[in-house]
Amino acid sequence: MPPFSQFDEAGRIRHLITLDGLSCEQVRELLDRAQSYLAPRGSAPIRSHALEGLTIGNIFNEPSTRTRSSFELAGRRLGADVLNLEIQLSSRVKGETVMDTIHTLESMAVDVFVIRDAEPGITQFVAEHVYDHVSVLSAGEAHISHPTQGLLDALTILQYKGGFRDLNIAVVGDVKHSRVARSAYQVFTALGVGELRIVAPTALMPDQDSMPDAKRFNSLEDGIRHCDVVMMLRVQKERMAQAAIPDAHEYHTQWGLTTKRLSLARPDAIVMHPGPMNREVEISSDVADGAQSVIRDQVTNGVAVRMAVLDAVISNRRLRGDRR
Ligand code: CP
Repeated sequence: MPPFSQFDEAGRIRHLITLDGLSCEQVRELLDRAQSYLAPRGSAPIRSHALEGLTIGNIFNEPSTRTRSSFELAGRRLGADVLNLEIQLSSRVKGETVMDTIHTLESMAVDVFVIRDAEPGITQFVAEHVYDHVSVLSAGEAHISHPTQGLLDALTILQYKGGFRDLNIAVVGDVKHSRVARSAYQVFTALGVGELRIVAPTALMPDQDSMPDAKRFNSLEDGIRHCDVVMMLRVQKERMAQAAIPDAHEYHTQWGLTTKRLSLARPDAIVMHPGPMNREVEISSDVADGAQSVIRDQVTNGVAVRMAVLDAVISNRRLRGDRR
């Protein structure tokens, strides 16, 4: 069997498991497509019939608000049927295997699976075993990958800064456990960002061979100084004990982004956070809700990016001529 590729024989995106390997042009194409799905502020959402007659299966085996809701809205706004499988209420809890679950839904004519799972490798495994006409999109895989989050982050930066080459971007906090940070690294690298910094306490810094081209900082103040973009990450409280980092209050004292600390970045710096936020832990409310915050734009862009990715994989399927 040939090694797995998320691209088809013509190099088009068939599945989206990771942003690793996407060219600058492919990323730009997805961002342009997403931009076309953004309605002017205050207008009704854009709708199309691009996915009419098709079915999207959302299979989330971890909690989610933003990703799941936006994939559902994206599918519906493109005219698709959307099926949400509650794993805890599914026959998986009776011992059904992942692939039996997937094949069952394939038999109900699901065309695209959107999968979030805490187990590394599940999304690729499913992609390797579905019918040729079916696509698999990662909605977040363990600590490894969250490709549509990376794309929506890039789109948000593009809207505010117009490009990447001259930018200094700081990714701050629990980088070690963050799939958001890994996908951000991949997309910012593909887009040729000027300088990418990862800023974290020692216990939350990833291994040296992870994100090798990023500059590393052990001090929040040094890490965000003169930055154009400050991307804060959720402290994964569930991992605090094993990571031997301080409690929430102590973390905020040393690593929380406050208005005073933000003043070290450029005056026109934007503040990002993928959500969900731990207010007064990694970010104070006055920053999260302040004039430099673009967190709500990230959420809006999430729907457009997911519409773009769904549209792209189905357009590519039509170009290949794959049939059910
Ligand atoms: N950013 C993100 O993935 O949020 P959810 O966990 O709410 O989907």
